[in-house]
Amino acid sequence: MAAIKTVGVIGSGQMGNGIAHVAALAGFNVVLYDVSADRLKSAMATINGNLTRQVTKKTITEDAHKHALARITSSDSLDGLAACDLVIETAVEKEEVKRKIFHDLCAVLRPEAIIASNTSSISITRLAASTDRPEKFIGIHFMNPVPVMELAELIRGIATDDATFDAARAFVTAMGKQIAVSEDFPAFIVNRILLPMINEAIYTLYEGVGNVEAIDAAMKLGAHHPMGPLELADFIGLDTCLSIMQVLHEGLADSKYRPCPLLVKYVEAGWLGRKSQRGFYDYRGDKPVPTR
Ligand SMILES: NC(=O)c1ccc[n+]([C@@H]2O[C@H](COP(=O)([O-])OP(=O)(O)OC[C@H]3O[C@@H](n4cnc5c(N)ncnc54)[C@H](O)[C@@H]3O)[C@@H](O)[C@H]2O)c1
Repeated sequence: MAAIKTVGVIGSGQMGNGIAHVAALAGFNVVLYDVSADRLKSAMATINGNLTRQVTKKTITEDAHKHALARITSSDSLDGLAACDLVIETAVEKEEVKRKIFHDLCAVLRPEAIIASNTSSISITRLAASTDRPEKFIGIHFMNPVPVMELAELIRGIATDDATFDAARAFVTAMGKQIAVSEDFPAFIVNRILLPMINEAIYTLYEGVGNVEAIDAAMKLGAHHPMGPLELADFIGLDTCLSIMQVLHEGLADSKYRPCPLLVKYVEAGWLGRKSQRGFYDYRGDKPVPTR
């Protein structure tokens, strides 16, 4: 299999802009696509801002910043991804949205190109089956924020071939990430463990055991977690948290994964956490204020 040189990224939200940023810094050419022109524009500004912060902190040089930015182009159509060796899908955590993307993408992509999904929870085997190349399909699950977190999970679908796995491993390693290999079960390793803990924190709030401040302080100071579970839920995005719990609940058919009704209510309200300025905290003022 030819080496990966050009990487497409579908979805320019918090994960997509992070993946584009780190891949470009590692020397890959990147084509970033989003269905929303506004999201695409703000992603390019975010990447520039985050690279500038790295220069200020002296973790990268001004030259590295300039070259990384020059390696990223944005595209307002999937056609712009036609020449990519690897395309990483990181759009919203909705299976029907991802399946439609893969359907449209396969029509423009070269047959030898690899497709990866950054899904947090959805079956890689099932997503692969919606493409014309299940053997060239793999899960690469980066962590948030991508420039900071050391890990990526690699998940093979039932049909993923060795060449695809080896190419994905080489790519992730070139991005400076450590790898944890996970079997293809709902939510893989990190989120299988992390999300039930977050969901339980939301139940603890729902049942009135503690308020937002008490629950986050308890886990930060009492269990040495760097962020409280509700703060972390807001950071991940409450829509993404809910989707992951739904995949766990349906996929493992165990009531212990039932999404907390309060999480459902916040998502229904459009209170999705930091990205919508309101979740378990309200971020519209100078400092975050608990909403319960
Ligand atoms: N947030 C996290 O902590 C985290 C961590 C690891 C993996 N993930 C996974 O990464 C993916 C993206 O999550 P995010 O947090 O970046 O979400 P986000 O809401 O920040 O961004 C999603 C982006 O996808 C775009 N999009 C929606 N439909 C699209 C389509 N049809 N074609 C192209 N773009 C489309 C949206 O415009 C938006 O810019 C999800 O699958 C999520 O589960 C998230």
